[in-house]
Amino acid sequence: MASWKVRGGRQLIGRVRISGSKNAALAVLAASVLATGPVVLENIPRVQDVEVTLNILHSLGVGGHWEEAGLLRLEVPEKIAGSIPFAEARRIRASSLLLGALLAKKGEAHIPLPGGCNIGLRPLDLHLKGLAAMGAAARIAGGQVLASGHDLHPAKIYLDFPSVGATENLVLAACRVPGQTIIENAAKEPEIVDLASFLNAMGAHVRGAGTDVIRVEGGFELGPARHTVIPDRIEAGTYMLAAVITRGRVTVENVIPLHLQPVTAKIQELGARVEEAGETLTITGPERVRAVNVKTMPYPGFPTDLQSPMLAVLALAAGTGVVVETVFENRYQVAEELQRMGAQIKIEGQTAVVIGQPKLWGAEVRVPELRGGAALLLAALAAEGESRLTGVEGINRGYEDCLAKMQALGAEIVSEVS
Ligand code: EPZ
Repeated sequence: MASWKVRGGRQLIGRVRISGSKNAALAVLAASVLATGPVVLENIPRVQDVEVTLNILHSLGVGGHWEEAGLLRLEVPEKIAGSIPFAEARRIRASSLLLGALLAKKGEAHIPLPGGCNIGLRPLDLHLKGLAAMGAAARIAGGQVLASGHDLHPAKIYLDFPSVGATENLVLAACRVPGQTIIENAAKEPEIVDLASFLNAMGAHVRGAGTDVIRVEGGFELGPARHTVIPDRIEAGTYMLAAVITRGRVTVENVIPLHLQPVTAKIQELGARVEEAGETLTITGPERVRAVNVKTMPYPGFPTDLQSPMLAVLALAAGTGVVVETVFENRYQVAEELQRMGAQIKIEGQTAVVIGQPKLWGAEVRVPELRGGAALLLAALAAEGESRLTGVEGINRGYEDCLAKMQALGAEIVSEVS
């Protein structure tokens, strides 16, 4: 278990380059299976979830290596022979995306029920219902998802919830189905748009990504492509909130400000100043944040992945903030750890009432999962005295070079490998 010792009280000052989007990269890696030939992917973050997905692709017979930082060169065979390694695939949620890709590529897919963060049950019912509408026989047995369908047909699918993963899986499956498949109430996240632009670069015909109706004209051969993944809006939002909580001044570089609109608006409500200049945003934290209310929603609402870091910020606000989590059913685990640092948080179902305190105090805390880990890091940076975060592997799953980036901004963090 690796841990970080953090001395709080330092303002974060400086510039930080935001890496490529973990979640866009995971979807694009799954989609690369549909190609045949060389695929070059740029701005891919070197984080554990990407490395795990790469290992899975290698097991399927896809050749791939890092050519330089952020640049992956893949060689995709016409036929996918291998099977997915159970142990690896269980570790991450994104392995569920191989369902649509493998169904489309070889007419069948056996994937272990994916693991991922323990932020909720994370069922796959919407994925399976959509694939069944296209004629796939999909069921869950023995801890695996078994899907087959050699003559899928186009369908009009309405998603009960704009699920990111279900939207991605259905778009991937539809790419190889001749005719027009329509997905209604589709997720509108920027990562969906990025996936569609990669698929279209390979020769697919995906229209409407970013809106709630996506139309896929399937059945075209997909060939080699080169794609640069969008910046990670959640990593960017995390550093923006780090500037706020430490009363610092941080410029995040290589971002798409449009993708951060809901976050920027909320940060201004907290009393911070935000200056936009091209692909950068500069955040100047206030002396003390104002309490605000937050309700997480599918894009373009406030992102659920920044809900935990927001709890940390509100823990030091002048007043009481109310947070409502509408996307995942179990995403307040970090509240217990924040309370060890003096945070006053009451959880009632999907609502967290955060009574802002003048100070937080350093403590020994455990990283529960990826975004909870980010919240604990932000709280430790602002707390009085020293904290120790154990299980920081949970942070490295989704934040590239987090330790180095934070240290470069002035954070006093020392890595301890026990
Ligand atoms: C993606 O997860 C992201 N992960 C998550 O980021 C992100 O929080 C989430 O989208 C929402 O934006 C990746 O892209 C790898 P969903 P995903 O399907 O696709 C329920 C992070 O921290 N649901 O939109 O799993 C589900 O249980 C991670 O980077 C069903 O009920 O999210 C959840 O409550 C965490 N049935 C809600 O929908 C289904 O078939 C949203 O899930 C599918 C989902």
